[in-house]
Amino acid sequence: MVDGKQYVSIAVGWGGVFGLSTRATDRKAPGTVYTFAIGGKAKAPASAPYPMAELLQGVKYDPAHVAEGQKLYVNNCVFCHGVPAVDKGGNIPNLAYVGSGLIQNLDKIVFNGPYVGQGMPDFTGKLTAEDVIKIQAFIQGTADAVRPGKSVD
Ligand code: HEC
Repeated sequence: MVDGKQYVSIAVGWGGVFGLSTRATDRKAPGTVYTFAIGGKAKAPASAPYPMAELLQGVKYDPAHVAEGQKLYVNNCVFCHGVPAVDKGGNIPNLAYVGSGLIQNLDKIVFNGPYVGQGMPDFTGKLTAEDVIKIQAFIQGTADAVRPGKSVD
């Protein structure tokens, strides 16, 4: 109650562990506090479409690396980025729906890369350059495996 007028505020957002890799809408809306009052006229803030590139293609890889890449990905990446191409990204993007340039240069991101300040770990000393090549193979291989229109034989 402020000056005799009653307000009701609710905090709205999307988060938690589940919200890292998945989302419920095709909009990207930051966490917001909405305040309601009888007779209130303010418009709700606009939301933007969730940014998502086309399903990843064109990253060269050796199919023999996919199985080991899967193990490395599951042990190091899946709990933040979700399953490539299957999940569609949450508060953290799905790696099959970011630009192919990022995946082509994955080592530059995994080893003390530009996203460290946003919460992307630095894997220096934990993964090798060969591990990253295998992870690339798993990400592109999985995108290719689920691509619509692919024949199932
Ligand atoms: C603790 C959570 C976490 C883990 C584990 C993690 N990342 Fe990230 N990663 C992030 C965050 C946070 C960002 C920045 C996202 C943003 O806001 O764009 C990011 C960004 C990225 C990006 C840039 C994508 C983009 O468009 O933002 C790539 C590529 C990436 N990570 C690859 C990996 C790989 C490969 C692994 C496993 C070796 C990994 N990450 C493990 C949290 C994580």
